[in-house]
Amino acid sequence: MDATNKIPRHVAIIMDGNGRWAKKQGLARILGHQRGVETIREIVRTSREIGIKYLTLYAFSKENWARPKREVDFLMNLLGEYLDSELEEMKTSQIRFNVIGKSEDLPSQIQSKIKRNMEETEKNTGLLLTLALSYSSRVEITDAVKSLCEQVKKGHLQINEITEGHVARELYTAEIPDPDLLIRTSGELRVSNFLLWQISYTEIYVSEKYWPDFKKEDFLEAVQEYQKRERRFGRSETSMLPS
Ligand code: IPE
Ligand code: IPE
Ligand code: MG
Repeated sequence: MDATNKIPRHVAIIMDGNGRWAKKQGLARILGHQRGVETIREIVRTSREIGIKYLTLYAFSKENWARPKREVDFLMNLLGEYLDSELEEMKTSQIRFNVIGKSEDLPSQIQSKIKRNMEETEKNTGLLLTLALSYSSRVEITDAVKSLCEQVKKGHLQINEITEGHVARELYTAEIPDPDLLIRTSGELRVSNFLLWQISYTEIYVSEKYWPDFKKEDFLEAVQEYQKRERRFGRSETSMLPS
């Protein structure tokens, strides 16, 4: 990795393929999720090492609640274990922990662990690690619309004053720059209701590997591929691009 080359500031990942990974080995789907946590550890560590500032991981969508209860319960337990096991590492490696999505939908003990991890890492200045949980981009945008309507109703905002900035500031990601690179594993060519507003000009990279098989070198390959891309943001030349 050429450190002098541009490292994406914000990488977002749709971690997909745990179930298919398990099936391929003749194992239960849930064991794929367990192995997927190992990949999360490796990718978080690598992100810190190469100087990525924001890493956003799609861990559980609003639509994933429709999976069998057994699988959902397993995922919630795994999340609880992850929040416990990684807290020390987050603290010592300056990771700031964050969550986007409807965290109020999550079991109360998970909500407490999230709150604890966020509070205990809030002063950290390294990587901002965001987990998308019970996340739906359409819900996020709909809630933003509702909030702006409220502000108009109260007379705090005029309709013709509403800008893209007003919308962006109502999203869960108000404090986070848009992703530079979106990675999806397991070969699916879709965005599955993830960060629809924020990825307007994000570079997309799809890996054929299932998430538990996605290793440090695969992640570095995605970053290298990103470094070769020419981002134009709709312009005809690359000069005077937004920073
Ligand atoms: C991604 O793996 C993890 C979650 C969505 C929680 P999947 O569980 O979607 O695995 P596949 O796509 O069925 O293989
Ligand atoms: C997207 O994966 C959600 C997460 C990775 C958490 P899914 O497996 O739920 O998406 P679809 O069903 O393939 O679109
Ligand atoms: Mg999937």
